[in-house]
Amino acid sequence: MTAEQSRSPSSVAQSFYTRWATLYDALARRAPGVGSVRTEAADALALDPGETVVEMGCGTGANLPYLAERVGPEGTVVGVDFSPGVLDVARERTREFPQVHLVRADATRPPIRPTDAAGVPHDPDALLATFVSGMFDDSAAVVSSWADLVGSGGRLCLVDLAETTDPRWRPLNPVFRALVRATAPPGSRTMRASPTKLLNRRLVAAHRALESRCRVTHETTHALGFARVRAGVVE
Ligand SMILES: C[S@@+](CC[C@H](N)C(=O)[O-])C[C@H]1O[C@@H](n2cnc3c(N)ncnc32)[C@H](O)[C@@H]1O
Repeated sequence: MTAEQSRSPSSVAQSFYTRWATLYDALARRAPGVGSVRTEAADALALDPGETVVEMGCGTGANLPYLAERVGPEGTVVGVDFSPGVLDVARERTREFPQVHLVRADATRPPIRPTDAAGVPHDPDALLATFVSGMFDDSAAVVSSWADLVGSGGRLCLVDLAETTDPRWRPLNPVFRALVRATAPPGSRTMRASPTKLLNRRLVAAHRALESRCRVTHETTHALGFARVRAGVVE
């Protein structure tokens, strides 16, 4: 067994995203169409100035300026990620947004309890997670815990990639599978066996959990059906 194989998948994922933070950042911001998907996701949260929004698995912070602009200087944005390297890039990106706070933590067990200006704890108003649900063993339980975190009336938005179900573009699924295999963190050994199947299963479970906890307010697909945006209000 190699040293890498003996580490937990979570620890290998943190090293992976830390090592590739700069390259990932370029992809996260410049891939064709990704900017409009990020705008759409931020809009789907229906944020008002002064509100508090949490982004789970915020990575290099590609969504954070969109969120900060919507809640304004009197609002709060909390970016959560467990990989220190991506948080360094996110910190640099959001330097001019004092309302953005970055926390190194596990998104599956978030220690988030924002406080208002008087220091009184309150539930976040909204939560965003983009391209991250596929990384959780039990993605349905994680999404359900996020619904608990924002509470009744809070908004959730998930954006994820999986194989397309659009018959016109299904012939491209083998290319997608090759890309997923090439970019999966090396520690996710079970993902190596069939990373796309696992990604699809986790994505479906995450989005079903959102549907079961929320009144769905927004549902679209992009990028030939490979990207899904789904948002709702927790009931
Ligand atoms: C594919 S990147 C997506 C980053 C960002 N959301 C975006 O749209 O560009 C996945 C991110 O999720 C983070 N991540 C994965 N599992 C996590 C967990 N359990 N807790 C916190 N962060 C996690 C990784 O460190 C990585 O930055």
